[in-house]
This record gives sequence, C-alpha cells and structure tokens, in this order.
Amino acid sequence: MKVLVTGGAGFIGSHVSEALLGRGDEIVIIDNFNDFYNPANKRRNIEDIKINPHAVVVEGDICDQKLLNSLFEKNKFDAVIHLAARAGVRPSIEDPLLYEKVNIGGTYLLFNTMRQYGVKQIVLASSSSVYGNQTKVPFAESDCVDFPISPYAATKKACEEIAYTYNKIAGIKSVCLRFFTVYGERGRPDMAPWLFVESVLKNKKIKVFGDGTAKRDYTYVGDIVEGILSALGKVGEFEYEVINLGNNNPVILKDFIETVERVTGVKANKEILPQQLGDVFQTHADIKKAQTLLGYQPKVSLEEGLNNFLIWYKKNFI
Ligand SMILES: NC(=O)c1ccc[n+]([C@@H]2O[C@H](COP(=O)([O-])OP(=O)(O)OC[C@H]3O[C@@H](n4cnc5c(N)ncnc54)[C@H](O)[C@@H]3O)[C@@H](O)[C@H]2O)c1
Repeated sequence: MKVLVTGGAGFIGSHVSEALLGRGDEIVIIDNFNDFYNPANKRRNIEDIKINPHAVVVEGDICDQKLLNSLFEKNKFDAVIHLAARAGVRPSIEDPLLYEKVNIGGTYLLFNTMRQYGVKQIVLASSSSVYGNQTKVPFAESDCVDFPISPYAATKKACEEIAYTYNKIAGIKSVCLRFFTVYGERGRPDMAPWLFVESVLKNKKIKVFGDGTAKRDYTYVGDIVEGILSALGKVGEFEYEVINLGNNNPVILKDFIETVERVTGVKANKEILPQQLGDVFQTHADIKKAQTLLGYQPKVSLEEGLNNFLIWYKKNFI
C-alpha cells in the first residue's frame, strides 16, 4: 500500500517508516525538520529511508495547504499515519498558540485534504496526557478525558475530536492511538530516558522533578510500531476508535532511575527539583482494548529497551 507518514523523520515516525518499507509498502514522508530538538538527529533518523526507492521524503509543513494539495495530487494514498506534531508538555505552556497551530490547525488541514482527495483511512497519534491527573488506574478509553492539564494535552484531545468529526462528515475511518511515554533508539532528547542516560554517562546531575514517586508507563518504540501497523491493517474495519498503546506496567521514577543505573553501570547524581507544571502524576494504560481490537501485546521490558537505547546512544553520540 501507499502511505503518507507525517512526522516521518521523528522518533516514532522514522521507526514506523522503516517498518512500512520493510514489509514492502511505499511511503511519502512529510516532515519540516523543526528545531524542537536538534534537526540533525531527524536527518540521521532517515539516512537509510532516504535512499530507499520506495520512499519519498518531502521537507515541508503540514500547515502548508498548497504542499498538501500537491502531495495528494501526485500520490494516490491508501492511508495516512499522522505523527507530525509539536510534542512535549512543558514547552506547550510557553507557546500554546504554536501547539494549536500545528497540532490542531495542521490536523484539520490534513483531514480536510483527505476529504477533498477521497483518502479514507488514517491512524493518528494521540497521547496518554489526555487523561490528565485522573486518579483511577489503569486509564481506560471509556474514562472521561475532559480535564487535560497542559495545552499539549488539550491539542491531542482536539485531534481525537477532529477525527470523529471527519468520520461523520467525510466517512474517514480513523484510529487514534494514545501513546504512553515511548522510549528507545532515536528517542526524543527532551524526554527522561534520553536525559537520564546522557547525564549519568557524562557524570552530570540528573534533574528529578518531584519526590520520585511519579509513575510512567514506559513503552518501547518497537511495541508501539507493532501497534501502529496493526491499527493500519484494521482501520478499514472501524469507523472511529480511540485505543491506548501502553505497557500496562507503570514504573515509579525512583525505580526508573535505578534501572538506568543498572543498565549504564553508573550511579546517578540527582538534583531534586519541585514538580513541574503540566506534568501528570501518573500514567498507566489499560491495554485490553488494544489487545482485543489490534492483537497488541507489548513484549520489551524496560531494562531491555533501555539497553537497546544505550547501545544506540553510545554508537551515535559517544
Ligand atoms: N514519544 C512519546 O512518548 C509520545 C507520547 C504520546 C504521544 N506522542 C505523539 O506521537 C507523535 C510522534 O512523537 P515523537 O515522540 O516521535 O516526536 P518527534 O518530535 O520526534 O516527531 C514529530 C515529528 O513531526 C515533525 N513535525 C512537527 N511539526 C511539523 C509540521 N508542522 N509539519 C511537518 N512536520 C512536523 C517534527 O519535525 C518531528 O520529526 C506526536 O504526535 C506526539 O505528540 C508521542
């Protein structure tokens, strides 16, 4: 099949793109290589993809309607995987309108272009952050998500609503995947797995926000990619679904740091700081819906996944 991958040069997007190429699909990537983190990382992510004859990489913005038109004019897409977004909770507090423009505005333009060109299937990235500071665990798709605590989370909830709307007005079938703290090779430099591993290897202090009891349901990128591909295969059977892709095994920050210490063999030097605004206290995915609808089953333990990340990090950055 021919798939448009938005944000295909990013962390998750580059892994998904490789997996699609690996199974014989054709892909077109649109990515604007913005400087949310070092664009050189994104260029490195797609070095192999760029030279694959079944891949086209377009450097551009999903908010550019003319560019979207020309991509949909030139290519008959069977489906879209929409991962392009401004990610990150804390920066969204500083620049909410940028998050609105890209995550909401860009998603509207993409769906409207799909409507105009008759493309009927999309898998898109939502986020565990939509659950806000919910205390009931694990987080299930049927839970109320009316209380996001960051602009980023609010934009991700809006993306789900846009997907619902375009199912109603244009018959576009969608699966919104709520990813839970994804980590692994090519991970994002703004996220804890990268920051902590980098800091301990360089003997720098790691910044620990809060009392160390916050919990995250860390999910290995390879498991996420399997979930995305499964959703792509099944999206035609659904109208509109929201599905958690997590690990169903939350880890408290203190234990996470101990795992980093074990994997790297280096003792962490911690700097304790107050809890950050916008950060939720815990995430914990109920993955029953993903298991039932997608046959999803995360396989990679935190220790194994962090070790894979460490090997990749050392190869590329040390
Ligand atoms: N990594 C996680 O833990 C996590 C968790 C929940 C949700 N998500 C979502 O998954 C998706 C992928 O996240 P990621 O971690 O791979 O982040 P990432 O920043 O590595 O990837 C996003 C990519 O989108 C591109 N992009 C951003 N704005 C764009 C625009 N206007 N036009 C074209 N391209 C643009 C970026 O250059 C980047 O390559 C995002 O939608 C993110 O919100 C990620």
